[in-house]
Amino acid sequence: MLSDNMQEAFNRQLNAEMFSAYLYLSMSAWFEGINLKGMATWMKFQAQEELMHSLKFYDQIHERGGTVALTAVDAPQTEWASPLAVFEATYEHEQKVTAMINDLVDLSIAESDHAANAFLQWFVSEQVEEEDAANGIVEQMKLIGDDRGALFMIDRELGQRVAPPAGTAEE
Ligand code: FEO
Repeated sequence: MLSDNMQEAFNRQLNAEMFSAYLYLSMSAWFEGINLKGMATWMKFQAQEELMHSLKFYDQIHERGGTVALTAVDAPQTEWASPLAVFEATYEHEQKVTAMINDLVDLSIAESDHAANAFLQWFVSEQVEEEDAANGIVEQMKLIGDDRGALFMIDRELGQRVAPPAGTAEE
């Protein structure tokens, strides 16, 4: 059984992951608008991954005998100054999410909730990957500067991203 504290925190994270999905879908739409289709695809799949993260919390709350409480999802930003600005915002956002996950881990330790702690370890590892992926793209984009040819090459490369598997079990 989840404590009230932990249940509230898990519900908050469920919402935060939904917001991440919304944010990345908004970024995907922005890329569509400027015809960088590969980046649009990358961001759409990123949004799908975030939805899966959210559903992991949804399932976990139920598995622990808790109650899911869905709340309004904030509207995301819709405009960015440049493709680089989008990926910088992505990296920044992922760092915030990592801090949220770390706070949840701290709470699980404070409450001696070993099940919550075990559940959260997947997210701890996932955040390392998420930050690394976003930062890697930021560094690449900084390297190319104003080279439009190189931008289209990165766009093509990012468009190769494979769709995340449906469901939450294997993620
Ligand atoms: Fe669900 Fe990108 O953190």
